[in-house]
Amino acid sequence: MAGIDTDGKYFLSYEHIHQSVRALADRISASGFRPDLIVAIGTGGFIPARILKTFLEVPILTVGISYYGPDNKPATAPRTIQWIDEVEKKLAGRRILLVDEVDDSRVTLEYCLRELLQHSPAEIAVAVLHNKKKEKKGSLPPEIRRYFAGEEIDDKWICYPWDARDIAAHEKVARSGIIAR
Ligand code: G4P
Ligand code: MG
Repeated sequence: MAGIDTDGKYFLSYEHIHQSVRALADRISASGFRPDLIVAIGTGGFIPARILKTFLEVPILTVGISYYGPDNKPATAPRTIQWIDEVEKKLAGRRILLVDEVDDSRVTLEYCLRELLQHSPAEIAVAVLHNKKKEKKGSLPPEIRRYFAGEEIDDKWICYPWDARDIAAHEKVARSGIIAR
């Protein structure tokens, strides 16, 4: 359910992702962390957050951040597409699970964590589907004591099923392991 194509990109099936999220939710619960709220970083974090909600059964708030500009090149800094102005007050004293699909450069995560920490949460834990094993440009603020990654992976491009234009072709690569295209 996880394939790699000739360019070395990872292809992950929806089933693989659902299973990883379930294992991630089990680890979060086993750690003793009981979130009051999930904050999903859009757009990549939306679907993982929704699957996590199936297991953790807490509400989701969302923030929209983009690090890639319209030309698909990394911007100099993350851009806020939409922030949670109205709901910021819901963060004080709450245990928050911040969810994204991938921890790549860590710049977006650091930006979000610093913003959210300004609203006096009881704790913020981080959950990502994938952590890329690489040197990070951003860092986790010292207040962050719990960090969960579904999978630790090599620094290769991951093709998520929700980005697929042709989901049948995507799932075929994901399900067949290493294949040539
Ligand atoms: P980080 O702090 O979580 O490491 O994120 P970073 O800013 O480095 O990521 C920049 C953008 O690159 C994010 O998308 C992230 O989803 C995307 N990205 C990084 N590595 C991969 C990958 O291997 N596969 C895919 N599909 N995306 C990757 P964004 O443009 O900020 O927003 P969005 O796509 O989530 O809407
Ligand atoms: Mg993305």
